[in-house]
Amino acid sequence: MSSFSLGSLARRQFLRIAAATGTATIAARSAQAAMPATVEQGRKVGAPLRPYGQPSPYEKVVRVSTTSTPTQISSWDFTPLQHLHGIVTPNGLFYERNHAGIPNIDPRTHRLLVYGLVDGARAFTIDDLLRYPAVSVIRFLECSGNTLTEWKKPTAKTVQVSHGLVSCCEWTGVSVKTLLQDIGVDSKARWVVAEGADAGLMDRSIPLEKMMDDAILAYAQNGERLRPEQGYPLRLLLPGFEGNMSIKWLRGLKLTTEPTYSREETSKYTDLLANGKARAFTFVMDPKSVITSPSGGMVVENKGFNEIRGLAWSGRGKIRRVDVSTDGGAKWNEAALQEPVLEKCLTRFRFPWTWAGGSAVLQSRCVDETGYVQPTLQELVRVRGTDSVYHNNGIQSWAVASDGAITNVQA
Ligand code: CO
Repeated sequence: MSSFSLGSLARRQFLRIAAATGTATIAARSAQAAMPATVEQGRKVGAPLRPYGQPSPYEKVVRVSTTSTPTQISSWDFTPLQHLHGIVTPNGLFYERNHAGIPNIDPRTHRLLVYGLVDGARAFTIDDLLRYPAVSVIRFLECSGNTLTEWKKPTAKTVQVSHGLVSCCEWTGVSVKTLLQDIGVDSKARWVVAEGADAGLMDRSIPLEKMMDDAILAYAQNGERLRPEQGYPLRLLLPGFEGNMSIKWLRGLKLTTEPTYSREETSKYTDLLANGKARAFTFVMDPKSVITSPSGGMVVENKGFNEIRGLAWSGRGKIRRVDVSTDGGAKWNEAALQEPVLEKCLTRFRFPWTWAGGSAVLQSRCVDETGYVQPTLQELVRVRGTDSVYHNNGIQSWAVASDGAITNVQA
């Protein structure tokens, strides 16, 4: 937990902001003159109820989808991290990665087949799964390709495109352990091949140990049933593991002695090193953090107090500490962590920054409860080279120019 306390510093800073923007002078004028226009509007009858709520028409926050894929059905889009608050991603803004479009699955006919090294194969309906004891957890999900554009040079213009393949929500479903214990697992089983019902035939091999630890058969996110893009009616959730393994539109779990070496864990989702060898079965998403505000494409409008805000996460457990630098890593200061700080979950951090108007380079660096320190990009490249594509968790740098404009740089 952070030792930084807002307290009197923040109060003094607030008063300075208030004085600078004129909000403190309202009391000196008549209350009538200070009434905002919305008070007048509030006397008119407003819009009727609607069955499913939508954002205000004044809010235009949306995902950005890539245009660089050869076909539209292999696609991904990015969560607008710079415009979000707290740690929970709204369902409509959760990042997506689809390998063959989004299947339209009728939950009444969908089945989850559990087979292989079990005491009798079984096909479960969604209603069957809903009868099991339910669990809910708040966990991040990150594509291992998140930040892939940044290995060689600063490319993304915004944090949405550099880091927006991470999202976080409350997932509800059945613990895989509960289900497998109910079926009975053969003592020879070591791996589980999870199979998706999409046209991409997505499948990945998962150690049985992980499945019995904290894997969930999720049917709901943020209180409602999964969105089709997130695997409706059923997906696997492997907290802390690369997103690709949390198989969507889950239709099969096959228990085996060995991994299957499928396309998506050999030619894809392996990490090519400089010596020509590739790392395989790199499952865990290592600790990572990024400043989301102010960040690339934004402009720091006001001198004086500005709150630096960002997110940190670790596939290995809880975030223990986040440090922020405003001078490109020469000096680091501890940021405040917003509760709750949960394992394998986005953690919001904040740092009070007084901008004097000159140029600055903003960075964040996290440490998780295992003691892992987020590396600089240079440290990461020294070990992995620049061909890895996946698992770029290096420190991100945002340069603030003297006019306040922010760009992506490698510092
Ligand atoms: Co990997």
